Amino acid sequence: MAPLKRVALLFAMEQEAAPTIARLGLMPKGLLEPPLPALAFEGTRGSLTVDVVVNGKDARFAVANVGTVPAALTTHAACVALKPDLLISAGTAGGFKARGGAIGDVYVSTESVNHDRRISIPGFDRYGDYLTPTHDASALAAALGFKAGVVSSGNSLECASVDLEHLIRLGASAKEMEAGGVAYAAGLHGVPLICLKAVTDIVDGDKPTADEFVQNLHTAAKAIEDAAVAVLDYLDGKELTTP
Ligand code: ADE
Repeated sequence: MAPLKRVALLFAMEQEAAPTIARLGLMPKGLLEPPLPALAFEGTRGSLTVDVVVNGKDARFAVANVGTVPAALTTHAACVALKPDLLISAGTAGGFKARGGAIGDVYVSTESVNHDRRISIPGFDRYGDYLTPTHDASALAAALGFKAGVVSSGNSLECASVDLEHLIRLGASAKEMEAGGVAYAAGLHGVPLICLKAVTDIVDGDKPTADEFVQNLHTAAKAIEDAAVAVLDYLDGKELTTP
């Protein structure tokens, strides 16, 4: 196996990605694959070609394209256009105090799952969860001091009590809105995936999620910047070992 050459980091929101793009000195390349609104940035870090792709804004509602549907479309386009050796689903997440999570913590995924695809028909129940092991990054997490855990996706920022039941059943340490879509498309293309998520809010805490998210977005985006650079430097010159 040859060393990694090209790594693509996928973000939903521009505010999540901006510090990473600036730190890596990436150049804007415009739309990744029109009519998709995803925006591409490219540069290098050591011997790696590094792409950052941001989902862009919704033309009708003028806000960032969050959620699993834009994430899956962007990932498909990124795989076709950029042919990365590794995808990193990067961004923010809710953490769980019951699992030792705290604001600013960075999690590396062990698995991607979905907590809001509830289909109680045999076969479809497991399809709904869509449990997908992500690339084994346990050595990376240990070397860089990140927490490791299950990253669970759904299409709501808020956490309904039924979602919490499923997050607990699935053993989630990080609740976010994109990794499930990224994992689905990455699987179609056979591209290895790692999720890298910084905690903005505590799902089982007592603060309103939206307020906590907005309050900590900048801190978490900075944590992702530092984590992304550390991960790229760790991976530079390495082969991706298959478990
Ligand atoms: N992104 C950041 N925090 C989140 C949460 N609590 N739920 C979903 N996505 C998030």
